[in-house]
Amino acid sequence: MAIERTFSIVKPDGVRKNLIGAVYQRFEQAGLRVISARMLQLSQAHAEGFYGVHRERPFFKDLVKYMTSGPVMIQVLEGENAVAKNRELMGATDPKKAAAGTIRADFASSIEENVVHGSDSAENAAIEIAFFFAGSDLYPRAS
Ligand code: CMP
Repeated sequence: MAIERTFSIVKPDGVRKNLIGAVYQRFEQAGLRVISARMLQLSQAHAEGFYGVHRERPFFKDLVKYMTSGPVMIQVLEGENAVAKNRELMGATDPKKAAAGTIRADFASSIEENVVHGSDSAENAAIEIAFFFAGSDLYPRAS
């Protein structure tokens, strides 16, 4: 299977609830490797740019407010089938619909405050990684 990279965010509610370690443990136990990470406070421009595809959605304004409400932890994950694997670990966007044992089923409080973000395709992963990280900031496992 192909080694892929994906982009992940522990969102402000996840950081507030002290869940960074719990989320990272799930990544690592599933065979995903954190190859770069950083904590940051998103600016309004950053959040609006990152979620630009949702600009016309009714929840966009609230989404930007929530994503700028506190620091986030951003990371690049690498491993076999990383995009799909991370989405499986996260569970459905709406925690009420997320499968038991997923991050969102276990920790999220609503469809908006859903603890984590993960890229939905390899193509978007490349775009999202480049939005936040320089290639020189990534540390793949030495082979
Ligand atoms: P994420 O996977 O980061 O992608 C877009 C985000 O918008 C999503 O997680 C939620 O935080 C939020 N979101 C998606 N759908 C809704 C909705 N129906 N109402 C409110 N927020 C939403």
